[in-house]
Amino acid sequence: MVKAVAIITVSDSCFKDNSRDKSGPALFDFITEKFPEANVHTIIVPDEKEIIERELKYFCDSNIDLILTTGGTGLSPRDVTPEATKAIIQREVPAIPIAMTIESLKKTPMAMLSRAVAGIKDRTLIINFPGSKKAVTECIEVVKVVISHAISVIN
Ligand code: MTE
Repeated sequence: MVKAVAIITVSDSCFKDNSRDKSGPALFDFITEKFPEANVHTIIVPDEKEIIERELKYFCDSNIDLILTTGGTGLSPRDVTPEATKAIIQREVPAIPIAMTIESLKKTPMAMLSRAVAGIKDRTLIINFPGSKKAVTECIEVVKVVISHAISVIN
């Protein structure tokens, strides 16, 4: 059962002006609809590896089942969400981003530019998503079928 979820929007611009965050709320809407019983935390952080790592660790230590990040997966020098995620996970789940990429490529070749990572730290599953509402909506469709089973297996 998915009891607690954290959604982390990673974006310098959304950190300065939270009204610009459209992908975090899209993930929030998805989670609250699919897991109405879940306690959902949302935060916005800038594209700073140490800050992203710190927040990921904090939520992993707080009995969160699932962390969804959005943003910072691309190729710009400030895009460091995958590096922060890799720094804290103990086991990678590579087929999750592979599946997202395969399906996303049917929508846009730009899917090649996401370096999203998924993995496990202790009993928390972490999945990176790209930083647009469109990308989040497309990618969550792909992974939604495995989330409950993945969480039950981890626990
Ligand atoms: N994946 C899907 N499904 N749909 C999209 O529109 N946009 C891409 C890609 N993945 C996109 C997508 C684009 S334009 C970029 S730059 C990369 O994700 C990285 O996005 P990010 O840096 O905001 O994380």
